Amino acid sequence: MVSLTELTGRALADISASADIARLEEARVHWLGKKGLITEQLKSLGAMPAEQRKEAGARINEAKEAVQAAIDARRTVLEAEEISRKLAQGRIDITLDGRGEVPGGLHPVTRARLRIERLFREVGFEVAEGPEIEDDFHNFSALNVPANHPARAMHDTFYLEHEVEGERALLRTHTSPVQIRALRAARDNLPLAVIAPGRVYRMDSDATHTPMFHQVEGLLVDEGVSFANLKAILHGFMEAFFERDLSMRLRPSYFPFTEPSAEVDITCVACGGSGCRLCKHTGWIEVLGCGMVHPNVLTACEVDSERYTAYAFGMGIDRLAMLRYGVTDLRLFFENDLRFLRQFRGGWS
Ligand code: PHE
Repeated sequence: MVSLTELTGRALADISASADIARLEEARVHWLGKKGLITEQLKSLGAMPAEQRKEAGARINEAKEAVQAAIDARRTVLEAEEISRKLAQGRIDITLDGRGEVPGGLHPVTRARLRIERLFREVGFEVAEGPEIEDDFHNFSALNVPANHPARAMHDTFYLEHEVEGERALLRTHTSPVQIRALRAARDNLPLAVIAPGRVYRMDSDATHTPMFHQVEGLLVDEGVSFANLKAILHGFMEAFFERDLSMRLRPSYFPFTEPSAEVDITCVACGGSGCRLCKHTGWIEVLGCGMVHPNVLTACEVDSERYTAYAFGMGIDRLAMLRYGVTDLRLFFENDLRFLRQFRGGWS
């Protein structure tokens, strides 16, 4: 039979040889567990004469305590080792070469939008926003768009399944509904000068049309606002935006929410007016729609149309960005090809 001293010696050797916590736990069960080899020793006490029992019991308990102490000490060492191993794994080697930083850039449409906002802010306009999910009232009725107007047709406008305040919701087809919201909010605080940039949606898709595009709306309301004011602000804006002298011409047009209405052309920025493919050899390119706000629109917003007059304009930000940066296909703006986008990084307007 193996002596207790011998057994204890083996247990201690086993413990110090345990290379990890799991192995140490196995050793604990093997020696001190319910059926452990040292625990079993206690069972032999019953067979002993009473006078030996006390001393033998004490020796076995001492052995148990010694083995338990060895296990505790080994556990502390193994845990410390594990912590430093984990730290070493997560260590940052500060001597490694850096990965470098790639400077990001603003999307060309964003650059154009910020440029437009800045130029209008400089002359006193505030920037307003409105929701992209609109209702018939703001997108059409309040803007004097008649019931049979083609823009209201299902094949032009994205209608949604749900309703907003009892009306079929739609994706706004232009930024003009922001005119209505701004007018109604400011009707007791006129004059008002706002621009409203944002996304708009139409069922259109080819080289010059995408189902989503960006517009910026302009609205100025005051006493005595005239068409001449409108023409002056637009001409000044176009020259500032393109950083060159430009001629501008207005062609009579029709929008339900303005009267009179005009479409605005500027000197072709690609050829300077001599005629090229971009301007279809006319020397002019169309950049926006505008007009004097129709009295019905002012009335729908509870603004006194006898006292106040207003002008409004709407232009495509994507189109202005194409012209300013020389981009020939609108779809490039939405494909997110990094080779295209990287050309615009750095700088900001
Ligand atoms: N909302 C018109 C469009 O999307 C543009 C416009 C705005 C025209 C304001 C006149 C006045 O085509």
